[in-house]
Amino acid sequence: MSQLFSPYRLCGIEFKNRIAVSPMSQYRALNGFANSWHLAHLGRFAMGGTALVFTEATAVTEDGRRTHGDLGIWLDEQAKALIPVAEFITSQKAVPGIQLAHAGRKASERRPWHGETPVDLEDEAQRNEAPWEAAAPSAIPYAESWPTPREMSSDEINATILAFGQAARRSIEAGFKIIEVYAAHGFLIHQFLSPIANHRSDEWGGSESNRRRFAIAVAEEIRKSIPESVPLSFRLSATDWLEEGIEVEQSVATAKALKDVGVDMIDCSTGGIGGKERPRRMVIEEGFQIPYSARIRKEAEMATMGVGFLWDAKRCEEIIANGSADMIALARELLDDPNWAFHAAKTLGVDQNYEMWPPESGWWLMKRDRLLNKLGIRS
Ligand SMILES: Cc1cc2nc3c(=O)[nH]c(=O)nc-3n(C[C@H](O)[C@H](O)[C@H](O)COP(=O)(O)O)c2cc1C
Repeated sequence: MSQLFSPYRLCGIEFKNRIAVSPMSQYRALNGFANSWHLAHLGRFAMGGTALVFTEATAVTEDGRRTHGDLGIWLDEQAKALIPVAEFITSQKAVPGIQLAHAGRKASERRPWHGETPVDLEDEAQRNEAPWEAAAPSAIPYAESWPTPREMSSDEINATILAFGQAARRSIEAGFKIIEVYAAHGFLIHQFLSPIANHRSDEWGGSESNRRRFAIAVAEEIRKSIPESVPLSFRLSATDWLEEGIEVEQSVATAKALKDVGVDMIDCSTGGIGGKERPRRMVIEEGFQIPYSARIRKEAEMATMGVGFLWDAKRCEEIIANGSADMIALARELLDDPNWAFHAAKTLGVDQNYEMWPPESGWWLMKRDRLLNKLGIRS
């Protein structure tokens, strides 16, 4: 009996298996609006048997976008543009999820293929994409040669908390069934959490609990804005991989504090707080972030999602079976193989005859297999 393909219930939502599509920014939105690219990009994973399909980082305010191509949901009309995406995912018996984001000091960045460097007047001349001023907990740039962000006032902080709540309400109206807050990878909430980016001396900075205040306030505001049956997940960077940054013990405490205000799941990633160099302590190998998921799941006693450099079905099965995570999320492996879930089901002996596949493809593949067998080409 496969654990990876066992159903899972969180709040009022049932997932048909434990495989999620990790958020993947496409940089293809125009003024924050979703289009047919997003439908096709996310739709193929829903057709490919994953149980939960997250949108990419979707900005809760216009200046909270990381790039000019980010999805946004600061307007009701933007939420409407996402309805076909949520509907199609649901039609494939997958759960549509949305990741809500604010880039903070990482805002006004070029798309990866334009250099992942700050937008400047050259972008305006070439693509009519003007730079804008980023806001952050403290006036500390993301990396060397990046512009210094504006330190957020208390009013701006409170307005941003409300923007997360409004974005969550719109997400539910658009048909999303689970909300994830992007509190990792050096985005705004992570900037508040980490002493590397947060040097404030008011109630939003300084002590560990003060640095956590913004994340907690965002969670509370979202919980007020969505039904109880909707699961709320936070993506955390469990460690900054830097001596002066967040360590996993603090992330366990953050997870517990979030649980207390109604967060149901922690999606466990790591890193990204600043600088372009990879920290020395960060050694990337298969499943390298899974121990963080296991630890938070055990010590905070809450559901977790494990992610990062996973591709092997048996390894993913083991992660769920040994209690390191409740769900696993894949990003690049799904770009390579959108039908990964079906192939994993075959590898694990769960679905040998294409019964999980949509009949539009499964029926033909089954017939072809029979023919290949009969001709002795494949057994
Ligand atoms: C194209 C691409 C875009 C990404 N965009 C986001 C994003 O919007 N939000 C996020 O939390 N992580 C983002 N990530 C990180 C992934 O969600 C994932 O955590 C990471 O790629 C590690 O998983 P993998 O080894 O399966 O790719 C992105 C990754 C890729 C490859």
